[in-house]
Amino acid sequence: MAARAAYYLSTPIYYVNDSPHIGHAYTSLACDVLARFMRLDGRDVLFLTGTDEHGQKVAKSAAAAGMEPQEFVDQVSERFRALGGVMGYSNDDFIRTTEARHTRSCQELWRRIADNGHIYLGKYAGWYSVREEAFYAESDVVGGPDGAKVTASGGSPVEWVEEPSYFFRLSAWQDALLEFYEKNPDAVAPESRRNEVISFVAGGLNDLSISRASLKWGIPVPGDPDHTMYVWLDALTNYISGAGFPDTESDLYRTYWPADLHMVGKDILRFHAVYWPAFLMAAGVEPPTRVFAHGWWTIEGEKMSKSLGNAIDPHHIVARYGLDAVRYFLLRALPFGSDGDFSHRAIVGRMNDDLANDYGNLAQRVLTMVNRNCGAALPEPGPFETSDEALLGAAGALPATVRADLGRQAFHQALIHIWEVVGQANRYVDEQAPWVLRKEDPARMATVLYAVAETLRHLAVLTQPFMPAASGRMLDQLGVAREARTLAALGPEGRLAPGTTLPKPEPIFPRFVDDSPAS
Ligand code: MSP
Repeated sequence: MAARAAYYLSTPIYYVNDSPHIGHAYTSLACDVLARFMRLDGRDVLFLTGTDEHGQKVAKSAAAAGMEPQEFVDQVSERFRALGGVMGYSNDDFIRTTEARHTRSCQELWRRIADNGHIYLGKYAGWYSVREEAFYAESDVVGGPDGAKVTASGGSPVEWVEEPSYFFRLSAWQDALLEFYEKNPDAVAPESRRNEVISFVAGGLNDLSISRASLKWGIPVPGDPDHTMYVWLDALTNYISGAGFPDTESDLYRTYWPADLHMVGKDILRFHAVYWPAFLMAAGVEPPTRVFAHGWWTIEGEKMSKSLGNAIDPHHIVARYGLDAVRYFLLRALPFGSDGDFSHRAIVGRMNDDLANDYGNLAQRVLTMVNRNCGAALPEPGPFETSDEALLGAAGALPATVRADLGRQAFHQALIHIWEVVGQANRYVDEQAPWVLRKEDPARMATVLYAVAETLRHLAVLTQPFMPAASGRMLDQLGVAREARTLAALGPEGRLAPGTTLPKPEPIFPRFVDDSPAS
């Protein structure tokens, strides 16, 4: 048997300076849905996430908490690991940048870049934003409201840094990067972000400071322990550490590198789409296949921030609305790639309309009829008519459509396409009126109920990556065996077996009744 095609995808690794909020949960959720979909589609998946634990920002937070950095990162990293349990992530590995496997990988990457002549020792004199862990030139900063300097782009405070530093010859990589984007049109997405990246690179690149002499909390530079590596070089390298680098002959590395997808937020695209491929090319390592930058959530119209006190804690919304509904909402509410607003009203609307009224009700009314009128077993269908074929055809076409949508990270489109079939199935039930057929033509009723049950099988298999628990319950109610819940089992060969006894139907998507003050 041919080996299953590998699919390696990663989330950004999260700074352990704070507790996770819904923005962090979102990036990983998108990856989780893709990972689950790829597994259902027979791919051999490596899904990596983890925590970014070095650098000035984390060191500062540790000091503010009155803790040693290691003790602090051990504690905060656990909160991100625990988030995985709350959000139902199916990651295969969790990497921490304070692990030995990562130190080894970073130091080796540095050595290779240095051996190839792309690193030199110089002196950095310029601005540094601790919040972004990024260097800024004089032309990128402006006077803030209190006179202190801030970045012109995002208003982050900056401080003046002047110290010896190693530099990466990024300036020499302009042409190679432009050629890389040109030859690999899918390497940076969405299109608008790709254009931003290309014009940034086309505008000329400065060499990049890649070490800090004044910061001890980091990975020592090989051969010069007075310096620690710049936290972004350290952090980006997690993606190859997780694939077994520097053991490039290992099965792990040979199977999974280059990564198929790095999913990131729009704020960190430049690091991933410019610096990272340049570092890798300089080390003689193949760059990742694709980087996708998604948008940002605001909360009831406002930027989400700790100081505004409006950061949404994933634990709270999962406790309130349930995990499946939260997962569905986050990926359905916005076109993936765009910014959007989180509101309680919107989530309740989606729960009651899309989930309870449309999807849940379809399953409930059909399964209840099967239970009452077909001896609680899947009915034997008669010959299919044009109307039945139309519905079954639409369901049968869905796997390829969803595969194409998710292949370009269009999560919302995948859900829209799935819900088109939900809508079609509801209209079909209304038109066929099996409750009328029950008396007039029971054989035809059996065919209609079977056609909808078979449509539900397709829907439930395809909604598994988004809503694993609810979809699993729906598949239980349809009597679908666990091993038959894959994309390969969809299509006529895998059709539901008439005569299969079904359990008593239970509502899967309850309506949400808001008993708290209006929000
Ligand atoms: N540590 C770096 C990433 C290093 S990857 C080699 C970092 N960490 S972060 O914790 O600040 O952010 C992690 C991710 O969360 C980013 O992709 C960021 O875009 C995302 N989000 C943070 N706030 C967000 C929203 N309000 N909305 C959506 N995503 C947001 O950056």
